Amino acid sequence: MNMAQQTVVTMPGDGIGKVVLPEAIRVLQAVGFDAEYVHADIGWERWVSDGNPLPQATLDLLKQHTLGLFGAITSKPKKEAAKELRPELQDKGYVYYSPIVGLRQKFNLDVCIRPCRSFPGNPLNFVRQTPGGGIEEPKVDAVIFRQNTEGLYAGIEWTDPPAEVRAALATHPKFKAFESVASADIAISTRVFTRAACRRIVEAAFRYAKKHGYPSVTICEKPNVLRETSGMMEEVAKEVHADYADIQLWSTNIDAQMMWLTKNPEDYSVIVAGNMFGDIVSDAFAGLVGGLGFACSANIGDEVAVFEPTHGSAPKYERLDPPIVNPIAMILSAAMMLDHIGDTGKAVAIRNAIAAVVEEGAVRTYDMLRIPGGPEAISKGAASTTQITDAIIARLD
Ligand code: IPM
Ligand code: MG
Repeated sequence: MNMAQQTVVTMPGDGIGKVVLPEAIRVLQAVGFDAEYVHADIGWERWVSDGNPLPQATLDLLKQHTLGLFGAITSKPKKEAAKELRPELQDKGYVYYSPIVGLRQKFNLDVCIRPCRSFPGNPLNFVRQTPGGGIEEPKVDAVIFRQNTEGLYAGIEWTDPPAEVRAALATHPKFKAFESVASADIAISTRVFTRAACRRIVEAAFRYAKKHGYPSVTICEKPNVLRETSGMMEEVAKEVHADYADIQLWSTNIDAQMMWLTKNPEDYSVIVAGNMFGDIVSDAFAGLVGGLGFACSANIGDEVAVFEPTHGSAPKYERLDPPIVNPIAMILSAAMMLDHIGDTGKAVAIRNAIAAVVEEGAVRTYDMLRIPGGPEAISKGAASTTQITDAIIARLD
C-alpha cells in the first residue's frame, strides 16, 4: 500500500471555512504534497448541539497527527451564544469560549506568525500620495509575531469579581479609585505576561528575521503605560537582541504604530506584539496588502501546529452557489504549513502561482474588484472561489 507521508487534520469550522479549506487541499494536491486528510469538528454547530465547540476527538486527532488546517469559526459574545444552545442544554452552566483561542492554549501554540506581504499588481494594495500629487505604492513586507496564548486572552476575567479577588486587588494602591464601586459593577480582564512566553515569541521573531534577512525586529507594545507587561516584553527583547548584533531592535507604541503603518509601512519588517496588540496590528497590516482575503497565519507550538486564514466565517456567503469568497488567505496558510514542515519548494511554488494570478489580473474575486459581495458579484465580473483556485493550480510550475 502506498502510505501518505503526512496526515493533516482538517477543521473547516463554520461558514466559509467550509468553502475555502477544500480549495487549499486542491492546491496542496496539485503541487504534489503527499498527504492524507482527516476531518475534525470544531465550531458553532458543536456548541449548539453539545455545549462544546472544541470536541475532545478533535484534540485527540491533533495530538496524534500534529498538523492542522483550520478554516474559520463563528464566535459570539457569552450571552448571545448561550441563547443559541439547544433547549436541553439551556441554563446548565455551559459557557462559550472561542475554540480557536482554546486550541491555541490547549497545545500551547504560542508563536503566531502572520506575514503581510503585498503581491505586485493587487488592486487592493495600499497606495499613498506623493508630495507632487502622484500616487506611489510602497512595498509592504511585514511579518507579525503575535504571542498567542496569554496576555488579555488568558481568559482570567470576571464581572462581579469574588471577594478574594477584590481583597487581593485592594493591596494595590491604584485600586483605591475603585474601592467604593459595587462588585456587580466591576468587570476585570487581566493581562498576564510570563517571561518564558515573552522570550519564546521574541526569540522566534529574531530567528525568523535572521533566516530571512530582515533588517529589524520591532517590539510593538505600550511600555510607557503598561509598564509591567509591555515592560517585560521589552526587557526580554533587549536580552535576546544581544545574540543578534546585525539586526536592529526597534520599539513602537501600538497606537503610534497604527498611525505609522499607513505612513511608512515599508520601514517595518518583523514585528512582535502581545496577544491583543498582535491581533490588532496584524489586521491593520493585512489591510495594506489586500485585507482578510490575503491574511494567512501559523499557530506554532512545540508539538502541534495549526494554520489558518485570519478572516471570520462570513456565514452569509457560505451557501452562495457558486461560492464567491477569496480562498487565497487559506491557500497561503496551507503554504505556511509546507514551510513549517520544510517543504519549502512547494510552498514557494504556491506563492509564485498566487503572485502570477494576482499580477495577471484576469481572474479576480469580488474583493479584488472592489464590488459588493453577494450573488450578483459573478454577473458583475467576479470570479468564483473555484475559478481562482483553478487559475492558481494552472500556474503551478
Ligand atoms: C484572529 C481572530 C481571533 C482572535 C478571534 C476569531 C477569536 O481575530 O485570529 O485574529 O482574536 O485571535
Ligand atoms: Mg484577529
